Amino acid sequence: MKVPFYDAKPYDRPFFVKHGEGQGIEYLFHEFRLSAETAASAAGSEAICAFVNDTLDHACLGRLAASGVRLVALRCAGFNQVDLKAAAALGIRVVRVPAYSPHAVAEHAVALLLTLNRKIHRAYNRVREHNFSLNGLVGFDLHGRTAGLIGTGKIGKLTAQILKGFGMEVLLFDLYPDETWAAEQGFAYAPVEELLRRSDVVSLHTPLTPETHYLVNARTLAMMKENAYLINTSRGGLIDTGALIEALKQKKLGGVALDVYEIEEGVFFEDLSHDVLQDDDLARLLGFPNVLVTSHQGFLTEEALSEIARVTTENLVRLAKGEEMLPGTVVNPAN
Ligand code: NAI
Repeated sequence: MKVPFYDAKPYDRPFFVKHGEGQGIEYLFHEFRLSAETAASAAGSEAICAFVNDTLDHACLGRLAASGVRLVALRCAGFNQVDLKAAAALGIRVVRVPAYSPHAVAEHAVALLLTLNRKIHRAYNRVREHNFSLNGLVGFDLHGRTAGLIGTGKIGKLTAQILKGFGMEVLLFDLYPDETWAAEQGFAYAPVEELLRRSDVVSLHTPLTPETHYLVNARTLAMMKENAYLINTSRGGLIDTGALIEALKQKKLGGVALDVYEIEEGVFFEDLSHDVLQDDDLARLLGFPNVLVTSHQGFLTEEALSEIARVTTENLVRLAKGEEMLPGTVVNPAN
């Protein structure tokens, strides 16, 4: 089975080629993203493989359905880029890879925190210029400080456990608290307002839903402790970027580390080093010395890429054989 694969990058290919080979799945790697404008490229395929910045809106899904596509295989956990209602109405099933390596993302969140706190990004650049001064590089001990984790699913839990290893006190918030796990770990759930008031570090680990959109806004930023750090490895839409920039300008926050951004499409995953950045908010964020941005690379480990390719390929093989999709991977069972 030939499967168009959108937004393909050199680091994806070896893992997908390896898992597809011998199983009858030939991935057709396209560097362009999937949208209504590019959907015609799926003609004749029963399934396509998409990623986080593809746009599977009503128009795109309509064209996919008209071309014969019956399965959208997302090679990611989040599915906010898909109009699920439209997919259901058009008879397109949507599957994802719900967990590939939660460790990869949790470890990246902690890497961002350590970098931000100990100013490694600044120190690295300085010493390369033979500037061995320590001015402006003072951090604080994480030991004894409080971390607030919003969202305690797979990634939030692992992040909490790593931070516990540093000797941090951990506060939690989730719509569906896992009290048994929290009690075992010695953690406490708290109302989100209390978490924001008390935490030296706030890390976001919820999916992007209508309820979590702009979870961090002018009102909630005002609740945060002076000089607290904010870490977001989940989805850019969790933060109102304008309000964040304002809080940074007012020196309310100690620092911000983002692996995700509100408008990643066309910027994240691309080399724009010879171009003019058109997103003024992103340019402003990059201009703060206490803001650290990575380009949605939380998932980027060998283990995670291999697992993403394995699960995606397995679902495509099952589609070809007319079998059920892997348990837990179906976002939208439309048939
Ligand atoms: P998960 O589904 O295991 O956990 C999400 C948690 O958020 C659940 O416990 C859920 O109850 C909670 N939640 C949902 N709505 C909420 C709300 N309104 N308020 C409070 N809590 C709420 O998901 P997992 O695997 O931990 O992933 C978390 C997010 O990380 C994903 O949704 C995805 O957006 C992001 N992610 C980012 C990656 C990256 O490369 N930076 C890679 C993989 C995931």
